[in-house]
Amino acid sequence: MPTLTAVSSTRPVDCDWLIVPVLEDAEIDGGYGVVGEWLQPRLKRLREAGDLTGKPLELLDLRDLSDVPARRVLLTGLGKAGTVSLSGLEKSLTAAIRRISSKKVDHAALLLSEKCVAPAPLAQAAKIAALSTVVGSVGQGLYKSEPDRFPIQRMSIVAPASADVSAIQSAVEEGRILGEATNLTRELVNRPPEDVYPEVFADRAAQLAAEYGLECEEFDEARLREERMGAMLAVARGSDRPPRMVVVRRRGAADADAPWLALVGKGVTFDSGGLSLKPSDGMKTMKCDMAGAATVLGAMVAAARLKLPVNLIGLMGLVENMPSGRAYKLGDVLRARNGVTIEVHNTDAEGRLVLADVLSYAVDLGVSRIVDLATLTGSCVVALGEDVAGAFANDQPWCDAVLAAARRAGEDVWQLPMFDSYAEQLKSDVADLKNIGSRWGGSITAAKFLERFVAQTPWVHLDIAGPAFAESNKPHREGGASGAYVRTLVEAAKAFP
Ligand code: BES
Ligand code: MN
Ligand code: ZN
Repeated sequence: MPTLTAVSSTRPVDCDWLIVPVLEDAEIDGGYGVVGEWLQPRLKRLREAGDLTGKPLELLDLRDLSDVPARRVLLTGLGKAGTVSLSGLEKSLTAAIRRISSKKVDHAALLLSEKCVAPAPLAQAAKIAALSTVVGSVGQGLYKSEPDRFPIQRMSIVAPASADVSAIQSAVEEGRILGEATNLTRELVNRPPEDVYPEVFADRAAQLAAEYGLECEEFDEARLREERMGAMLAVARGSDRPPRMVVVRRRGAADADAPWLALVGKGVTFDSGGLSLKPSDGMKTMKCDMAGAATVLGAMVAAARLKLPVNLIGLMGLVENMPSGRAYKLGDVLRARNGVTIEVHNTDAEGRLVLADVLSYAVDLGVSRIVDLATLTGSCVVALGEDVAGAFANDQPWCDAVLAAARRAGEDVWQLPMFDSYAEQLKSDVADLKNIGSRWGGSITAAKFLERFVAQTPWVHLDIAGPAFAESNKPHREGGASGAYVRTLVEAAKAFP
């Protein structure tokens, strides 16, 4: 992992790559000593020649330089001054880092300028710069014989002479921790289902909990049976891999009886669809179906490393959904932990069955707020696209708090309605509920199903089926797992209660 250091621009930066964010309609502020003197006229000439516009995601590299301390310079476009959002900045910086990390880089530097991020404070930008460095230089080629990406060894984040370098350094530290937590989530999701099944995930969680001082409890099959978690156990039945529930806690609040925030994650380590088997095309990325649980684990680790002064509990329901002679069947009636009976009409609607029991367990612990994350429905991707999570809630103030946390984190979430009329679709002739609705409004009926298991506890469900995993690379982000919403959870925890 890279060393990340905030430095003042008063010192010359001697590096292999100097990353310089550029605006469309303004030059960055001066105060960069020898670099600035070299840079300003060069940028002007490039613009005049039409080689540089500063438009978002534009990348222009200058190589074989001799009259500047950097061996190479990479210009990365941000767009118009005053309009650059933090997520826009992140995309531009990640694009730059992805570009340079295809080869080994010993020392890179990145120029931060007030003007680039205004009106956001410089420390925010420094945090994003650190995060982008950590996330952008790690790919998904975990099993390649020849690595195609190389973590940058040293990164200097160069702040203007007027900035307080130690404040910038703490922002950089926070960005690094968030970036590493994001990469942890990405790695767990990117690993294939034969390498990450419920027991493996649970072991990894226990090991991370020990490393970062979180309490950890692991529920095996017998314990899940004792807890009457009949819906989750039914999903697990078709698989040769036994299920697990992992509960990790951080007692961070000073006050002994401070309230708890529960983070709940869907951890289907592989979703074949079960007897309602998915076609190959839809199944091939279903190692991603434990992204909710991996996001919860990433956020718990980040919260521990950031020493957040809050009581946090992470609950992960881990199962593999497979067809077999023992698999749960269509028409089966399951009894969930809270006594609600469920008629199975589709074994591919398994995530809500897993969450039903885990949510009910969280409720009985007496937590004061819940957020769950799940790659729950294709329907949510149809509604909101691949880059936006759907939010569903039984309590508007708590939903507003989670949406605000997402905004601060620079992650996109959009709330969908929870009218009672949607629940009509879940009526069963033989049981309290059936596990699917009609074709229409599928992400909402799934949320209405979950609502039956949270009692009166204020709860937000985030459907991350789109943003958790991308089929292909884009310049500003790697394909595969994204680690999205780790930061939203950390922001929500920071603001709790
Ligand atoms: N894990 C899937 C949802 C999913 C789809 C995640 C695409 C990521 C990308 C979930 O278990 C599922 O299969 N949902 C079904 C529900 C349906 C049977 C009501 C779906 O969305 O088709
Ligand atoms: Mn499914
Ligand atoms: Zn699933």
